[in-house]
Amino acid sequence: MDPKKIAGQLVEMEQFFTGDFALKTKKKTVASSPASPGAAETDAQATLNAIAKQVRACRKCEISATRLNPVPGDGNPTAKLVFVGEAPGADEDQQGIPFVGRAGQLLEKMINAMGLQRRDVFICNILKCRPPGNRDPRPDEIYNCMPYLKKQLEAIRPEIIVALGAHAAKTLLDTDKPIGQLRGQFHEYVFSDEVPPAKLMPTYHPAYLLRNYTPDNRKRVWDDLQKVMVELGLSQEKR
Ligand code: URA
Repeated sequence: MDPKKIAGQLVEMEQFFTGDFALKTKKKTVASSPASPGAAETDAQATLNAIAKQVRACRKCEISATRLNPVPGDGNPTAKLVFVGEAPGADEDQQGIPFVGRAGQLLEKMINAMGLQRRDVFICNILKCRPPGNRDPRPDEIYNCMPYLKKQLEAIRPEIIVALGAHAAKTLLDTDKPIGQLRGQFHEYVFSDEVPPAKLMPTYHPAYLLRNYTPDNRKRVWDDLQKVMVELGLSQEKR
């Protein structure tokens, strides 16, 4: 893409998510972050570490041979809010950390606009390895990789999951409905029979938003995030 266009978008992004649309309320805590970690946090972190170890050893798909680094996930082990994307891209593959490229910068602006920091939430993907050339995840890869994500979500037990884009939303909700129909309302993500479900909000993927950076799309994403904020008690008004 034209570097001037990218620079312009970055400025707009900054204004959009930290300007008029930014939250002007008191910051509330949505993740436990005590000075010394509590037992729940230590347990969840230990489980997440064990899952990350399994992901690093995983060779179930061909893409494990072409990845530079697996990207298990990153963030607060007791986060009330988890973002799930599609799959690592080139930057994530290089660093082994999710959402660190351009889409990641936009995601971080979105998180900040909600009054949160990246460290308050957990961020991960449906696939833990980069599909070559950033092609779409294949059904067999999703099938192989989903057990890791399910275990991560069970360990964290967030109140809310934001599914970023069609692949995450359709996979987590086990539906073929288009993202345009799914977004904007809460669905349920069922952990198991014993545990109450999490609320799941599908929204557009930040990479899609960057490619289609219209005021309407930005408003749609911001509306979705504001609904999440209300649920988490981050917004003063019930809409
Ligand atoms: N896009 C994703 O879906 N995930 C990442 O980690 C980066 C870009």
